[in-house]
Amino acid sequence: MRQEFVTQALIALILLPSLLNAQISQQQARIKIDTDRVIGEVHPHIFGNFAEHLGRCIYGGIFDDGSPLSDADGFRKDVMQAVRNLGVTVLRYPGGNFVSGYDWRDGIGPRAQRPVRPDQAWGDLEPNLFGTDEFLRYCERLGVEPYLCINAGLGTVDEARQWVEYCNESRRTYWAEKRRQNGREQPYGVKYWGLGNEIDGPWQLGHKNAEDYSKFALEAAKAMRRADSSIKLIASGSSNFGPNADWIAWNRTVLEHLRNDIDYISLHTYIGNRDNNFERFLGASQDIDHRIEIVAGLIRAAQSGRPNPRPIHIAYDEWNVWYRARGGSEFETGRTRLEEIYNFEDALAMGMFFNSFIRHADVVKMANLAQLVNVIAPIFTSKDGLFLQTIYFPIAEYGRQKGNVALDLWVSSPTYSVGGRPPLNYLDTSCTYDRKGNVLYLNVLNRSEKLNITAQIENQTAELLPTAQVWQLNHPDLKATHTFGNDTKVRPTVRSQTLPAAGRALNYTFPAHSLTILKMNLR
Ligand code: AHR
Repeated sequence: MRQEFVTQALIALILLPSLLNAQISQQQARIKIDTDRVIGEVHPHIFGNFAEHLGRCIYGGIFDDGSPLSDADGFRKDVMQAVRNLGVTVLRYPGGNFVSGYDWRDGIGPRAQRPVRPDQAWGDLEPNLFGTDEFLRYCERLGVEPYLCINAGLGTVDEARQWVEYCNESRRTYWAEKRRQNGREQPYGVKYWGLGNEIDGPWQLGHKNAEDYSKFALEAAKAMRRADSSIKLIASGSSNFGPNADWIAWNRTVLEHLRNDIDYISLHTYIGNRDNNFERFLGASQDIDHRIEIVAGLIRAAQSGRPNPRPIHIAYDEWNVWYRARGGSEFETGRTRLEEIYNFEDALAMGMFFNSFIRHADVVKMANLAQLVNVIAPIFTSKDGLFLQTIYFPIAEYGRQKGNVALDLWVSSPTYSVGGRPPLNYLDTSCTYDRKGNVLYLNVLNRSEKLNITAQIENQTAELLPTAQVWQLNHPDLKATHTFGNDTKVRPTVRSQTLPAAGRALNYTFPAHSLTILKMNLR
């Protein structure tokens, strides 16, 4: 008996490496889709963007008065075309940190009379040549929803109320008349208003604790709604996830105070590959998911026990990769103008963010990539032209899924683990369904650096037609970048492909370090 046991143990020991190898080389995954398992609408506003008075975002990006590339309004025509093709739905403005020292009244009226002010957030001189009217005209020209953020740092409640009056009042009031004098008869009807930017951050001008911020925001909400009761308000949620910040407490307090007054609470997240670890970098979805789920829970807690709670959603109104063009402090950062040059792995991170927003489509109803042009942006200009950064292409492609419903997938995938955290799937996924066209969009980021992973894909409610349209972003060099005259290196391929069937399922192999969108028809 003992001898038999020893023999078996020896055989197992001899076979173990080949068993392990077999497991590693197989790398099988399974993805089950069910069109009945709807999470929520993929709100068009999750394909939003953000433009701040910072570096060359406005001046030299959006607005370049006198340039041969600009139109009569001073808007860069090439940039406008690139913004249209990017599919931007909503545009947040004027900051960012900038807004916490900004007086919107400096940016209206005849240009020659507008004051030049030091921008205390980023250390530049602000000429105020571009302000509220220019911004709102820009949005109208693009067909994009404007989203204005008030100064809840050094600003006052009354300034915020006056801004709403200037933009939205139809009667012959003081600020509505000013708007008319400045050439705009009809109210702009600005619907989305942010109650300040990153007030939880000690770097912010006029930084406050959660109680003081909530008191200010409550009064601002009241006064702004007196000017226009139809506006939607976004409270300043967490941006500060540092070791000394109790970010959960911040959101809890803000939600408790503002639950009857706000429509959204914001979240901000920037990620970076500082230690050059690809798989860890693309594991940041754990943080993004976690932050969304915690805030969703806090919203539910603030609403619990109320018969008719006001619906509150998350506006992820700043997100991106940002770690190279940074100094030692936020102020120093401004001096570098935040001109990140994005590479291929950063483009993959776009898919990771969108997958997370889509997986939480019931609660994330707005998201704004930071930012639009030059400053941590997908569009990069010089005075002679522009190029499209690597991150541009996945953003534009995911945008085609707006208005679809997000589906709750069941996924089994090989996993990995970073820094002692719980394991996460190599395949980071989301799925949306276009009910009218009966088309499924399966979004898959393979964040393994080395492994191709074959997935069996099956749908529970109807048969998948074998021919899929495959949109794919892949490149052998994770650090490949674009520049002027060469922005075709990291571009997606699009092809039609018949996927091999395995019973009811279809097989598809997701290559290592790739982002794939499979567009599949149902019978
Ligand atoms: O987007 C750049 C900066 O990042 C914004 O001004 C600020 O809100 C955040 O810290």
